[in-house]
Amino acid sequence: MFRNLLKNSKRFASNKSYQVTTYARPDDLYITRGLNAKLYDDVNNREFVDFTAGIAVTALGHSNPEVAQVLFKQASTLMHSSNLYYNTECLKLSEKIIEKTRQLGGQYDASKVFLCNSGSEANEAALKFARKHGISQNKTKQEIVAFENSFHGRTMGALSATANPKYRTPFGDLVPGVHFLNLNDQLTRLQNFVSAKGDQLAGLIVEPIQGEGGVFPVPLETLTGLKKICEAHNIIVIYDEIQCGLSRSGKLWAHAYLPKEAHPDIFTTAKALGNGFPIAATVVNEKVNDALVVGDHGTTYGGNPLACAVGNYVLEVLSDPKFLEQVNKKGETLQNGLRQLQKSFSDQIVDVRGKGLIVGCQFKENPGPVVSKARELGLLIITAGNNTVRFVPPLTIEDETLHQGLSIFAEAVKSVYRS
Ligand SMILES: Cc1ncc(COP(=O)(O)O)c(C=O)c1O
Repeated sequence: MFRNLLKNSKRFASNKSYQVTTYARPDDLYITRGLNAKLYDDVNNREFVDFTAGIAVTALGHSNPEVAQVLFKQASTLMHSSNLYYNTECLKLSEKIIEKTRQLGGQYDASKVFLCNSGSEANEAALKFARKHGISQNKTKQEIVAFENSFHGRTMGALSATANPKYRTPFGDLVPGVHFLNLNDQLTRLQNFVSAKGDQLAGLIVEPIQGEGGVFPVPLETLTGLKKICEAHNIIVIYDEIQCGLSRSGKLWAHAYLPKEAHPDIFTTAKALGNGFPIAATVVNEKVNDALVVGDHGTTYGGNPLACAVGNYVLEVLSDPKFLEQVNKKGETLQNGLRQLQKSFSDQIVDVRGKGLIVGCQFKENPGPVVSKARELGLLIITAGNNTVRFVPPLTIEDETLHQGLSIFAEAVKSVYRS
């Protein structure tokens, strides 16, 4: 089969013209298969260490045999039955999300789950739910606070709460009433804004660790202070855990590092929940659920048995305390390795930060050449905002592969800055 792929590489190249022009991809690289933290291009006969995990998705590794088994078994039993009827996998997953969240220090009052198919959709639901709650108090309570550097998705609602002008401006007017604040501002300034606008604000959305924006863990005091002021004005707090959640930060949820009084009213999750199979969830407390009635929101595929069977398996593994322990160990190895490199390249590498296995290495300049060189040498990495290289490998990466990836990265940095 792979020999055929090699023979057909010219044909693949011409097929590229059938895809819309929305992605910048390296020329002549075709991912044909994966195995845990390795990806293979059988068209060009190449092997890569993968520090991207499909953008923080394949937490349990590529081609995970247990996930494949669950998929096969469920596909042979029932793939889809719609939200007209209960399905047992969906009920099991909803319960598991709530139970594991409470057991492992996440949102203490999490109580109900809405299942959907992508991160953007989970945030759309969160924003709609917050608005429904706001409107149920007072018709003017519809506006949203979001933050600079944020990324919440590409659908119109989620995009409206996403700060990056590159993603927003091509599309003209977005959903009105979204206010962007800066998380580096003094807490009192943020609190004053929220307080002054309290009657108009339905919700506040924030990533506890900003991912696309450059891997910035939001300080505990900021989130605690924001929650306090939102609570005083009956504003729904939404934590977007789509990238930083599901054990990537070293705890099941990044907000599990926070005291109870900083817990959200809603949090959203996606990416790793299906290990590559599309699934997402919006988790709410009773206060939010009380504002919802039948017909307020829906989706055809959301909560389908196939996705939920995978989610049930994945969540069980990711929430095992032993699993979390090894994520933290590997996170330390990764950060230590990068800090070591920073010592040798202190003029070029300005910061190393993150939690668990979501780590950013910030350069003084655009790290594009380092990313290209790393790829040439056999390592896949991605950038984030602020000249940052983002490291989000599978959480199951072998120690040996982690070290291999780190040495390739060091070699790429050397090659770019010492040549
Ligand atoms: C924090 C965060 N929120 C939302 C999204 C959007 O998720 P999706 O691409 O599945 O719609 C992403 C995707 O990268 C994300 O990182």
